[in-house]
Amino acid sequence: MTNAAILSFYDPATGSYSHLIYDHPGGHAAIVDPVLGYDAASGRTAATGADRLLATLAEQRLTLAWILETHAHADHLSAAAYLKRHAGGRTGIGARITEVQRHFGRVFAMEAALAEQSFDVLFEDGERFRIGTLDVEVIALPGHTTADVGYRVGDAVFVGDTLFMPDLGSARCDFPGGDAATLYRSAQRLLALPDDTRLFLCHDYPPPERAPCPVVTVAEQRSANLHLNERVDEAGFVALRRARDATLHTPALLWPALQVNIRAGELPPPDANGVCYLKIPLNLM
Ligand SMILES: [Fe+2]
Repeated sequence: MTNAAILSFYDPATGSYSHLIYDHPGGHAAIVDPVLGYDAASGRTAATGADRLLATLAEQRLTLAWILETHAHADHLSAAAYLKRHAGGRTGIGARITEVQRHFGRVFAMEAALAEQSFDVLFEDGERFRIGTLDVEVIALPGHTTADVGYRVGDAVFVGDTLFMPDLGSARCDFPGGDAATLYRSAQRLLALPDDTRLFLCHDYPPPERAPCPVVTVAEQRSANLHLNERVDEAGFVALRRARDATLHTPALLWPALQVNIRAGELPPPDANGVCYLKIPLNLM
């Protein structure tokens, strides 16, 4: 097996990382967690970040085999459908996305749409697939949501919203289906990997004194993660996580993001006048 080439792309508007993984120039690629820009005030989407990914695919003469999501993001819209339309590839996410789709399908009254617009492949824990010559293993990492998964490629794992940079700690666990004790156990699976395993993050929200960073080793997380270092036990983590979650606001793009992301990044079909609309459920939170 060859070593994966990995390029990380930062979206400063949402603090999100998208990652491009490929086997060799001219070979096959996967994109993890692509971002579609969205301006809530004007209702405009922007494919600037996705176009940068497409340009890199072209430069390296790559065939896009997979568009992978670590979970249904609540803070940004996914560019999965946009990328699929422009570069092909199959969309994939953890199998428990069906639980998230069922819940939010009811919230948005869009169960029928989900039958038409969903992911191509739903991965079970431990499932393996290939990106060209690269072998990928799916690791279920529930806690932030029920459906979170990581993707392990050699010594790299794309961990989604499980661990953040050591100075930030961990992802919130207060969304429907989220659970701090479950996140703690998922994090232990990652922290049990070899010391020099590289964990590629889904987000970074750096303090002013440092630049955003896409990757950190297991050893660094075990020794220094604010919430999940080796000195914190499950009860300690759960208490700390619940106290912090009680102070967090609803993400600004929660409703736009979820209704697009549970349909694999497809925008809602246009109304009779040809315009697409997003729904905001009133007084439901
Ligand atoms: Fe998330």
